[in-house]
Amino acid sequence: MKRWLCGLGLFFALGAAPCAFAQGSFGPYVPTPTVIVERLLDMGSVTGKDYLIDLGSGDGRIVITAAKKLGARGHGIDIQEKLVAMANQNAANEGVADRVNFVRGDIMEADLSQASVITTYLLPSTITKLVPKFLAELKPGTRIVSHDYPISPLTYDKVVSFDLEEKIKISGTPLTVIYLYVIPARVNGEWALSLTAPGAAARTLNLRIEQRPESIAGSIEIGGARFPLRDLRVRGEEISFSYAAGTEGSVALRGTVKGAEMTGTVVSSPSPAKNWIAQRR
Ligand SMILES: C[S@@+](CC[C@H](N)C(=O)[O-])C[C@H]1O[C@@H](n2cnc3c(N)ncnc32)[C@H](O)[C@@H]1O
Repeated sequence: MKRWLCGLGLFFALGAAPCAFAQGSFGPYVPTPTVIVERLLDMGSVTGKDYLIDLGSGDGRIVITAAKKLGARGHGIDIQEKLVAMANQNAANEGVADRVNFVRGDIMEADLSQASVITTYLLPSTITKLVPKFLAELKPGTRIVSHDYPISPLTYDKVVSFDLEEKIKISGTPLTVIYLYVIPARVNGEWALSLTAPGAAARTLNLRIEQRPESIAGSIEIGGARFPLRDLRVRGEEISFSYAAGTEGSVALRGTVKGAEMTGTVVSSPSPAKNWIAQRR
């Protein structure tokens, strides 16, 4: 179990104020070292088109850096009034108060629907409680970047780790881990899948997908038999999978999910099918 220490030598990069350690039911305040802020934004592929929300925003450094260096917009939410005031002051000092702001509130009650990127540096006990909220409120494709802690039970899309001396006084080890999650489109349920070929009648098959926060699986019904989907992957609005249906051979599909419809191309198939469309039943 990591220890949360806030060393006297820890200073805010933006405000040059000493670390304000406060721990209540909401957990401790420990600012992310500046070099890691850059890595978090890089991991989230943040650009000027993004709206970033930092959950538990401290002195505002992540949102402020995203605005100043990358032109992003965003806001931060923190339970501690003093930190919120400091973050708004830092935003003004850094000349980005027109694009970012900080509000006092409980992240469990915050509206996250505006975000294209979420950043967190929260203890596992807090972050795990946010999972149902993430899945209910965030748009498919929204990236979540978590500093040091995985978001159980979600499956991460990417993870990087490296050593940073500065972390020893924070967590007792130089090890830093950054996790990236991409909110998948909601595909759980039954779908009518039609494979289409030029000049031929469409063939409609029953597709079933079982999507859970920690796993995804599916099957397709052909001629009364069910065949498992292979390599089923949903990343944001993109979906891909394949199946091998007995003597029909192997079929691979790739497509895009838009609400109750998926459309895409047939990547490989022994049949002349070129495109596919699936509608939620
Ligand atoms: C480890 S600090 C991270 C600060 C900042 N995100 C950073 O990386 O520099 C965690 C912050 O989350 C805030 N926090 C914890 N639980 C919260 C909650 N339920 N609602 C709002 N803020 C919370 C704390 O006040 C603290 O400022």
